[in-house]
Amino acid sequence: MCGIIGITSNKPVSSAIINSLRKLEYRGYDSAGIATIDNGFINEIKSEGRVDNLEKNLVTKSLKGTLGIGHVRWATHGIPNTVNAHPHSSETVSVVHNGIIENSTILKKLLIKKGHKFKSQTDTEVIVHLITEYLKENNLKDTIIKVLKQLHGSFALGIIFKDQSDLIVGARRGSPLAVGYGPNENYLGSDSYALKSMTNKISYLDDGEFCLLKKNNVEFFNENGIKVNKKVLHVSSQEENYEKGDFKHFMAKEIEEQPITIKNCVKEYIDNINNEINIYNIPWKFDNISSVVLIGCGTAYHSCLMAKYWFEELTSLNVSTDIASEFRYRKNRFKEDTLYIFVSQSGETADTYAALDLCNKNKMKTCSIVNVIESSIARDANFVLPIHCGPEVGVASTKAFLGQMLVLYIFILKISSLTNDLDKKNLTNKIKDLKLLPKLVQETLLTEDKIRMSADTFSEAKGSMFLGRGFSYPIALEGALKLKELSYVHAEGYPAGEMKHGPLALIEDGMPVVVLAPRDNYYKKTISNMQEVIARGAKVLLITNKSTDEVVSENIWQTIEVENSNYDLIPFLLTIPLQKLAYYSALKKGYDIDKPRNLAKSVTVE
Ligand code: F6R
Repeated sequence: MCGIIGITSNKPVSSAIINSLRKLEYRGYDSAGIATIDNGFINEIKSEGRVDNLEKNLVTKSLKGTLGIGHVRWATHGIPNTVNAHPHSSETVSVVHNGIIENSTILKKLLIKKGHKFKSQTDTEVIVHLITEYLKENNLKDTIIKVLKQLHGSFALGIIFKDQSDLIVGARRGSPLAVGYGPNENYLGSDSYALKSMTNKISYLDDGEFCLLKKNNVEFFNENGIKVNKKVLHVSSQEENYEKGDFKHFMAKEIEEQPITIKNCVKEYIDNINNEINIYNIPWKFDNISSVVLIGCGTAYHSCLMAKYWFEELTSLNVSTDIASEFRYRKNRFKEDTLYIFVSQSGETADTYAALDLCNKNKMKTCSIVNVIESSIARDANFVLPIHCGPEVGVASTKAFLGQMLVLYIFILKISSLTNDLDKKNLTNKIKDLKLLPKLVQETLLTEDKIRMSADTFSEAKGSMFLGRGFSYPIALEGALKLKELSYVHAEGYPAGEMKHGPLALIEDGMPVVVLAPRDNYYKKTISNMQEVIARGAKVLLITNKSTDEVVSENIWQTIEVENSNYDLIPFLLTIPLQKLAYYSALKKGYDIDKPRNLAKSVTVE
């Protein structure tokens, strides 16, 4: 995680750096810092917490200089305090870093032996001392080449030097890094989003490369110092002005706007007149594909799991899912007839990217489903399907989850028509149902009041459980993840049929349990499992869909009915009350809903 910005210009840079840091806060918000070069000196200001705190500090201690670097941190080594905040500086050099230096302990010992004194507990500080050490006997470029070769792990770096008033060094291994070009100024940034307010002309460093960035010229080199040419890409210059409006939190807004984001996405992928799916130019033939592997992390992984159920229902392909951090280190037997699908809102998640990279290196067929279209995962997959849900600011993913599921579902329908697993009539019916989804989501959002009441109980609980079977199981996992990350209440998602194999021992009097039991093929089985937890004292919040049949069970604490639809689409509707449950539980506790503790929106370290 962590966000990096660097600017060299002919005008003062500190306020532009602060503005960019605000855009990068989704990558980390433990602490923030900025360093500039002013008259041959490195000046730095760092603060614990948000960029707002840093800006307050800047008012009291102004930072001059036409060249500077800034950073927002998500702590890996060392607690989130001012000393551990980046930049880390010696008298000669200042460094901002995203990633992890895996051999920092060994390097630190060697440097201490040479007389270097460390101020922080971070892995980053070794880079400062290494550069300082190598500069004693090498020119700047050779120093960079030698230092980068000493570092193990992943990194994106921004480096400035006290006697260089027009030079920022950028370096990348693993973690993404972009260069932006402006009029008489140039920029370094963790991504194009951070640079968008300043330029739409961007180049990306490839793995192992570094750059020497001056205000009128940028040179790129490979790890051995050989010059490389770079394409300048023109990214969308539209700065999405995404505000909270009348909502108290971005998350509340993002939940409420789901009918619109779903409608937009359906419009992108469905030909309204002919009821056909607008996915063309797929670079492979499905005659040659017999297996699909879906890969993601966290919420994105849950959408992969959901897709597995749809794939199995609607196609004859073999399907498996994988958590990216597991996939990337397991022994994988890559086969030509397999399609790998990567799901990521940010498109920058380090583990998901590494899994994609691994598949690309093994010449596999790769497809990504992303929200951020200029991201690394979008750029590097053979085929990209955007989810079109607009920026998601709340750290807990809501509208992107529905967007991921939606695009996966549409893609699966498309595949099932290409493989002839689904006939034209069935396909048309499913597409017609899909077009009703925005309205059904809108109506399900009205379950508000009952959810608010239940949220009070969940927010005070020691622990809770979310149970579902079949299509509802991935949604149970997602509901539990949302509750734990926002309200810090222990929550476990389980397949309802698994309870008697151990977890039932956790049920005690008054424990709140969500049971997802839509009237699908699993309904009766799930209701039996629900009765088993009620018999052991659980307070059950049952979420089902509207039906003329009454639920036959006693002692249910609360029942919420979502709208009705074909079975495939019920998971979208079940998700809505769970998002609200998590939101109101956190609201009740007064927690920071858009930025929960210890988390970040974009997880760019493994
Ligand atoms: C939870 C959440 C995370 C992300 C995960 C992957 O609400 O948002 O679990 O889903 O970190 O992030 P992306 O989708 O950006 O790859």
